[in-house]
Amino acid sequence: MKLYVYPNDNLASLKAYEIVKKALLNKKNSLLGLATGSTPLKLYDLMIKDYKKGIISYKEVKTYNVDEYIGLEESHDQSYRQFMNCNLFNHIDINIKNIYFPKGVGNINKNIKEYDKTLESLGAADIQILGIGSNGHIAFNEPGTSFDLKTHVTNLSPSTIKDNSRFFLRRDQVPTSAITMGIKSILKAKKIILLAFGENKSNAIKKLLEEEVTEDFPASALKDHPDVIIICDSDAAKKIKYN
Ligand code: F6R
Repeated sequence: MKLYVYPNDNLASLKAYEIVKKALLNKKNSLLGLATGSTPLKLYDLMIKDYKKGIISYKEVKTYNVDEYIGLEESHDQSYRQFMNCNLFNHIDINIKNIYFPKGVGNINKNIKEYDKTLESLGAADIQILGIGSNGHIAFNEPGTSFDLKTHVTNLSPSTIKDNSRFFLRRDQVPTSAITMGIKSILKAKKIILLAFGENKSNAIKKLLEEEVTEDFPASALKDHPDVIIICDSDAAKKIKYN
């Protein structure tokens, strides 16, 4: 794993964008794995800005997302699909047919099988963007989840529900489960960029860098991947030693 630490999330997001931009310039039909949450927002802004300047086109790009809440329709304003529409897809020239998302409503067992089939047929992502939960989750693989799982339903941990509640008016509106890609599928990406900003991620970053691989700390699975780039701001890196 390579680690980059920047004084703030603007510069850290710029570093992530430079890597994404290079990939998109090299390969117009890149496959990007995407995450939601507050962490990648500045990266998505930079993607939109360069698209608007005519520097990058997403016409041939395909994307898949790592997770979706159970029980929220795509059109729900807090669904992850809406999040991606509002914060990226609606502002770039991506073909809607090239956007892949797990479905959190309807026949969930069928949705799981279908998403695994979709991911299989898309092949390895050129770049997978990830955030990290304060408890070390990646996508919604919560502590204790087998690294061998593919797409599955997960009960969100109390700390994740608390973290996510900032986006909902009332705590009882926060979904308690999600459909998520498994770690096995996430690790198939050719390159993984994990972003971590803010002091509340500092324990997770310390554990990721200093402790052993264990299913109790899902992000540690990344240690077994050959091309992982961790990009932090100085707050997230405050508990580790770096140059
Ligand atoms: C969301 C996802 C989650 C988030 C993580 C961090 O699609 O995959 O693993 O990346 O919960 O969330 P933020 O960025 O809001 O701190």
